[in-house]
Amino acid sequence: MKYLKIIGQKKLSGEIRISGAKNAALPLLASTILSKNTINIGNMPDVVDTNTFLKLLNNLGSAGKRDQNTIRVNTLNINETKATYDIVKTMRASILVLGPLLTRFGYCEVSLPGGCAIGQRPVDLHLKALEAMGAIIEIKNGYIEARCQEGLKGADIVFDKVTVGGTENTIMAAALAKGTTRIINAAKEPEIVQLCEVLKEAGLDIKGIGSSEITIIGTNRKLLEFKDFDIIPDRIEAGTYLCAGAIANAKLKITHIMPNHLSAVISKLEEMNFEIIKEKTSLTILPTTSIKPVNIITSEYPGFPTDMQAQFMALATQGEGTSTIDERLFENRYMHVSELVRMGADIHLNGNIASIHGKKGNLSATDVMATDLRASSALVLAALVAKGETNIHRIYHLDRGYEDLEGKLKRIGADVSRHNE
Ligand code: UD1
Repeated sequence: MKYLKIIGQKKLSGEIRISGAKNAALPLLASTILSKNTINIGNMPDVVDTNTFLKLLNNLGSAGKRDQNTIRVNTLNINETKATYDIVKTMRASILVLGPLLTRFGYCEVSLPGGCAIGQRPVDLHLKALEAMGAIIEIKNGYIEARCQEGLKGADIVFDKVTVGGTENTIMAAALAKGTTRIINAAKEPEIVQLCEVLKEAGLDIKGIGSSEITIIGTNRKLLEFKDFDIIPDRIEAGTYLCAGAIANAKLKITHIMPNHLSAVISKLEEMNFEIIKEKTSLTILPTTSIKPVNIITSEYPGFPTDMQAQFMALATQGEGTSTIDERLFENRYMHVSELVRMGADIHLNGNIASIHGKKGNLSATDVMATDLRASSALVLAALVAKGETNIHRIYHLDRGYEDLEGKLKRIGADVSRHNE
C-alpha cells in the first residue's frame, strides 16, 4: 500500500488546471450502453473510478480503451448483463449500469453495493423507479435481478428524496422505454445536466433539463446515435484546490472550470473573508489577513455540496472563531473528524452537526488514515499547513477521484511525495 508524505507550511502559488468531473464521467460511461456507435469521450479524468468503470463495461463485452484523457468506447457487442460483486464492491457507482442494461436487454443482474464508509447509501429509490416502469425486481444472493420482457414503459416517477444516482439511472432507463417518463423531484446537479444534454444530442426527446421535472419520450428500444463529447470540469476538484489556496493563504488560480458550478463554494469562501477573482473559465483566490468562521448546511445542488464539507472543515480549523457544519445528506460522513483532531484540531460532534473551534496554526503533523475520497482530501489540506511531516495512509481513496494530485500540488510549491508502506 502507498502513502503520501506532505511536509507542511511551504509557500504555495501558481495555477492548477482542473480535470474532467469523475461524477459526470461515470454516468456518461454507463449511458454508452444506450448507443449504437463508437464514441470518443474527451477530458476524461484518468482516475481509478473511471478506469474501473471502463473495465466493468469491457467485462460486459464492450470494446473500450483509454488513450490519455480520451476514452473510445463501443458497446454494441455487449453479450453479458451481469455486473459482478468484485467490481461493484470497489465502486458503488457501478449501480449506474442497472437502468441502461435493463432497458436495452430486458434483463440484468447487478451486485448490491452494500454499505460504505459514508453510511448505508441504499438504492431503494433506483429500484422503485424501475419498478414503476414495469421492471420485476428480486434480490437474490446479494444481487439485484431485474427483468422486463416486453421492455420498460414510461411512467410518472416522484422521488421521495432527491437522488443523483437514482435520477441518472431513471433517465437512462427511460431513454429506451416505450412512452413518456416524467421524473418529479429530480436532482439538478451539473453532472445530470450533462447526461441529459449528451442524450439529447444523441437524438433523445428530453425536456426540463436542469430543472426538478424532467420529461423523456422513450425510443422503444431503438439505440441512440451518440456524438463525441468532452466531460465537464470537476467542480469538486476545483473547490478542493480553492480550499488549498485558502488554507495555505496563497494566491492560486484554478483554470479550465465552469465558475457558475461553484457558486455555493465561492460564496462560503467570501464569507470566510477571501477575495476571489472570477473570470470566464477560471477563479483566482487571494490571501487574506484573517479567516472568519462560517456556518454550512450541506444540500442538493445548487446548495452547498456534501462533497466539499470535509475540505471546508479543514479550512475552518484555521478560522478565528467557531464554525459549524450541518451534514444533511449522509448520516456517517464525519470520519475525517477524528483524524483532524489527532492533528490538533478542536472539533466537537453533536449528531450531524460539527462545531469547529478554529485557531490559526493549531495543526501539527502526524500519521493519519484516509477513509473516503473527500475525507482524504481534507487531510491533504490540513497537512499543507501543519507543522512538520504528515503521512497520509490508505491513499487509494484519493486515487479514485483526484487526477495527478501530487503533480498538481508539487507544481504550486507543495512538498508532496508518494511512498510504499
Ligand atoms: C452522488 C455522488 C456523490 C455525492 C452524492 C450527493 C456520484 C458518482 N456520486 O452519489 O459524490 O456525495 O451524489 O451529492 O455522482 N438515497 C436513498 N435511496 C436511494 C438513493 C439515495 O435513500 O435509492 C439517499 C442516500 O443515502 C443519501 C441521499 O439519498 O442520503 C443522496 O444520495 P444520492 O444523491 O443518491 O448520492 P449518490 O448518487 O450515491
